[in-house]
Amino acid sequence: MRHWPLTQLTLTTPDLVLHVPDDDQLDELAQVAADGVVPPGAVYFPQPWASGTPEQTARNVVQNHWWARGDWREDNWRLHLAVLHDGQVIGQQNLSARDFRVTREARTGFWLGQRFQGRGFGTQMRAAALHLAFVCLGAERVTSTAFADNAASRRVSEKFGYQANGVRRLAVDGRLVEVHEAVLTAETWRRQDQQPVLIKGFDECRHLFGLNPEPPEPGPVDMILHL
Ligand SMILES: CC(C)(COP(=O)(O)OP(=O)(O)OC[C@H]1O[C@@H](n2cnc3c(N)ncnc32)[C@H](O)[C@@H]1OP(=O)(O)O)[C@@H](O)C(=O)NCCC(=O)NCCS
Repeated sequence: MRHWPLTQLTLTTPDLVLHVPDDDQLDELAQVAADGVVPPGAVYFPQPWASGTPEQTARNVVQNHWWARGDWREDNWRLHLAVLHDGQVIGQQNLSARDFRVTREARTGFWLGQRFQGRGFGTQMRAAALHLAFVCLGAERVTSTAFADNAASRRVSEKFGYQANGVRRLAVDGRLVEVHEAVLTAETWRRQDQQPVLIKGFDECRHLFGLNPEPPEPGPVDMILHL
C-alpha cells in the first residue's frame, strides 16, 4: 500500500516472517487467538484480551490492530506484526514507543497460539524485534514486561541478557499481579552472538517512527543482517 509504507516492512528469521497483516491474515490471526493463547484461568496481560470467550478474544485482536494503525503517531507508535511460519499465521510481535526520538527506548510484546508455543519461535520473534529496534531504529534500550508466573516470557528475556528493572503491582480483574520489567541495552545486545535476521522495507517507513528521513550513515535501502 503506497500510503501506508509499514506494509512494505518485512522481518525474516530462519523459521519466521513478520509483517503487518492484510485483512485475511488479520482474520487468521484472530482465529489463532480464539483457539487459545493462555492456559485456562491464566492471565498474562494487563488487559486480559485473551481470557474471554473465543469470539471476544478474536474481536479484541482485530480491533486492537485497527486501533494501533488508526492511532499511529510519530511520537507514539505501536507496530503490530503478524508472525508466519511456513505461510501460516501463528502469532503476533509488537514493538512500540512513546517519544522515541528523545527517549531512544522501545518496548516489545508477543504472543503465539498455544499449539505453536515452546518451539523456539518466541525467541526468534524477539530477535527480530530487537534487530529492528537496535539496528534500524537506533534504540538505546528495549524493555519487556511479564507477569511473575509467566516463565516462558521471562526466560526469553533472560536468554537475550535483559536485566531486571523493577516490579510493579497491578490489579487485573480484581486480582493482584506482579509485573516484572526487564531492560536490554544496545551495548549488552551488541556483545552477544546475533541470531540471523533479514529486514526489508525499513527506509520507506523510517519517518513514521519519528526519525529523520535520511539514514544516519550510508547504507542500502534493505538491510541484510547477519544472514
Ligand atoms: C511467551 C511466548 C511468546 C514465548 O514463545 P515460545 O515460542 O513459547 O518461547 P521459546 O520456545 O522461544 O522459549 C521459551 C523458553 O522458556 C522456557 N520455558 C517455557 N516454559 C517454562 C517454564 N514453565 N519454566 C521455565 N522455563 C520455561 C523454555 O524452555 C524456553 O527456554 P530455553 O530455550 O532456554 O529452553 C509464548 O510462550 C506465548 O505466546 N505465551 C502466551 C502468551 C504470553 O505469555 N505472551 C507474553 C506476555 S508478557
